[in-house]
Parts: sequence; structure tokens; C-alpha cells
Amino acid sequence: MSPSASKLAGPRFLFESLLACHSERSEESNHLIATLNSARQLPAGLMPGQPLTALAPMQDVTDLPFMRVAAHYGAPDYFFTEFFRVHGQSRPEKHILRSLVENKTGRPVFAQLIGEHVSDMVRTVKELLKYPIAGIDLNMGCPAPKIYKKNVGGGLLRDPAKIDGLLGAIRDAVPGLFTVKMRIGFDSTENYERILSLINKHSVDLLSVHGRTVKEGYRSDVHYDHIAIAARTVRCPVLANGNITSADKAAAVLAETGAAGVMVGRHAIRNPWIFRQCRERLVVERADPSALLGAANAVRSPRSTLSPAVFHPTLADVREYITRLYRETQTPDIPEKAHVAKMKKYLNFVGQSVDPEGKFLHEMRRAMTEAELFAVCDAHLLTEPARLFATEPYPGIIARPNCETPVETCSLDTVTA
Ligand SMILES: Cc1cc2nc3c(=O)[nH]c(=O)nc-3n(C[C@H](O)[C@H](O)[C@H](O)COP(=O)(O)O)c2cc1C
Repeated sequence: MSPSASKLAGPRFLFESLLACHSERSEESNHLIATLNSARQLPAGLMPGQPLTALAPMQDVTDLPFMRVAAHYGAPDYFFTEFFRVHGQSRPEKHILRSLVENKTGRPVFAQLIGEHVSDMVRTVKELLKYPIAGIDLNMGCPAPKIYKKNVGGGLLRDPAKIDGLLGAIRDAVPGLFTVKMRIGFDSTENYERILSLINKHSVDLLSVHGRTVKEGYRSDVHYDHIAIAARTVRCPVLANGNITSADKAAAVLAETGAAGVMVGRHAIRNPWIFRQCRERLVVERADPSALLGAANAVRSPRSTLSPAVFHPTLADVREYITRLYRETQTPDIPEKAHVAKMKKYLNFVGQSVDPEGKFLHEMRRAMTEAELFAVCDAHLLTEPARLFATEPYPGIIARPNCETPVETCSLDTVTA
């Protein structure tokens, strides 16, 4: 069993290995296995034994409608909610609770929290434990100045002593799975290894690492070497996050980092088939690595030649995705103009793979009504419906406001690619 596979098996694997030394299991030991299973075992992925996939938490994006859409095209193994804000007067936000209570995707959902005060966090954890959650996730990465200046999200990374207290208190309050999502530092990586040792100290069950510092925002290359350090250092499985643009890129990052899985954010908005493609890609790789020769080059090319075993959407498929997203995100109270504006934020990402000149993006941004928006979609997606949607974003085609824009909040208004 590979190191990441044994981490995935978790405490149950270790305990069963010990039991294997004895000829028969007592009732007591069976009971202990059952308890470990239910309390601290990560939920199985859709393809047990394969690397995990997760949809990254994204404010204004990973709500119930988007989770439904993602599940339709091939669900990730795990979902994470947008963050619940925790402070003295906070109550879990109703619209985020919907993504737990009304979720029929069949996939586990981790509830993410952002906050700093132990008593408020513990109170909120206890409230959320009443809901159907897979576990509690702590946000230690949000790079928005409005957030980190309050010493929450990415701001916590400046203060390992505070992290120590917070992780300890949340660990004590969570009988089941406790997960953390973090960046590799605030303005440098000087605290990184110390924080990783706190992840071990407090028996965190799953760690997602976005391989950039808070100050790097979304601009820099992703430091996959630092994700590899986490995968080597912590006892729990690690999800590699940051610029996972395709199934080929996922495979390359898994090989480089030794992570147990990948977490995908913006490129799942662009390409909701990405989780299915990852599963298909990784199964093929395991069965016949030669079938995927050249994949490393393919990562650099928008027109990469994927194995036939991997689903590859056409422009007509993308047109259908846009209709589905429009329908799912429509509510009786949202005026048409506001709904079109919201759709344009998603389409900013989709447009990165429609045409190499960015004409779709240019025209889509000018649409004001539903009819105008879909007319642009039809012109660009149904003229050559069988043409393949580019696997990678076209070079130089940037969603706007672009990644040089200062990040004011973790939301679609400012964070793009
Ligand atoms: C619109 C948007 C909202 C985000 N909101 C959150 C959030 O609520 N919690 C969080 O931990 N990260 C949040 N992030 C960061 C993502 O989870 C992820 O770490 C980041 O986008 C890098 O991954 P990617 O390159 O796959 O997009 C957000 C990112 C975006 C683009």
C-alpha cells in the first residue's frame, strides 16, 4: 500500500493491521472498529482506492444549486460549503445550511467555518453538528484583506500559538471528522512546518493545501513543492489545491506532491466534467500508463489529446451546461438583469476555453438580458456544436477582473483567473 493510500485508510487500517496479528477478533474489537469507522474514517471516494477529488469551497459559488450542477456532470468525492462566518452574534447562515439539509447529491459535505474566537467557534461547531455534515472544516487561507485584517482565514497563519489553541478546541468539540484548509503561509513560509506539526498534534483528519501564501493571492505560480512537504509531514491525507486546470494536471500534481487527492475550484466552474475526467484519467493511468504518454505536454496545450477513455465535452455540451446552470440558479425573487449578471461571473471562467481570441467573453460581457446572453451562447457554442471544448484555458484568455486585481472578498466579484 502506498503512503497516501495507507493515510486514506486511516485509523481503521492501522487497527486492523494490529488485529491481523491475532487469529480471531473479539466482539469488543469489532465494536472498536465500528466506532473508529463511524467516528473518524474519511468517507470513501466514488472509486475506492483512487485519489480523492473535492470541489473547493467558493463563496457565492459552492451553494446548493452549483453542487447539484456539479453532481450532474460527475460529482467530486467531497463537497465543502462556502464559509460560515463565526463571531459573537453569528448564527449559521440559512442559505449555506440549505447546501447541507437539501443536498441530494449523495456526496459528503464538509461545513467550513471562518473565525478566531474559541468560544464562538465551539458554539457554532455544536450547532452545525446537528446537521448532516461529513465534518467540520476550518478556513486558514482566505486572502481578502477585509478578512485577514480581522485575524481570521489567512490572517491566522501569522499566529501559530493562536492556531494551536483553536485547533485544540475544535478537535475537542468535534467527535467526528475535523479538516483544515490552509495556504502555505501569510507573507512567507516561515511558520509552515510549525503549523503542519500542529495539524498532527491535533489529529486533523484531512488537510487541503492551496500552495500559495496569502500575499501571493492568485498571482504566483503554485508552490507544489510545499504541498509535497505537507504530504510528507502530516499523518492525515492531503488534498493538493491551486491551478488544477485539468485531469492531466491533476495527475501531474499528484505525482509531484504525493498528495492523496486534488481539490479543484475555478476550473470546476469552467469545466464541471473535471471530476469525472480525473476519475477516468487516473483509472486509465493505473491500468495502462502507456495509454497516456505525452500527458505532461498535454497539460500545456488547450487542445490536449486526451485518452478516448476520458470524456471530452463538446461546445454543445457546454451550451447545455449553461442552460442547466441558469435554471438551477434561478429563483423567483431574482430579477432577470441580476441573474444575467450572476451568470456572467460563471461564464467568465467558461469563456477561457471557448475560443482562443476571447470573442465569446467579449460579447457575453455585453449581454443584459437572458435572450441576449443565450443568443451569444448559441452563436459561439452551436455553430460548430461538435467542436471540442478546450481542455485547458486558452493562453492569455483571462477572466475579468483578472488575477492582478486586489482581492477584496473571497467572491466571484474579485477572484478570477
Ligand atoms: C470565488 C471564490 C470564492 C472562494 N471562497 C472560498 C471560501 O469560501 N473558502 C475557502 O477556503 N476558499 C475559498 N476560495 C479559494 C478556493 O477554495 C481555492 O483555494 C482557490 O480558488 C485555489 O484553487 P483553484 O486554483 O482550483 O481555483 C475561493 C475562491 C474563489 C475563486
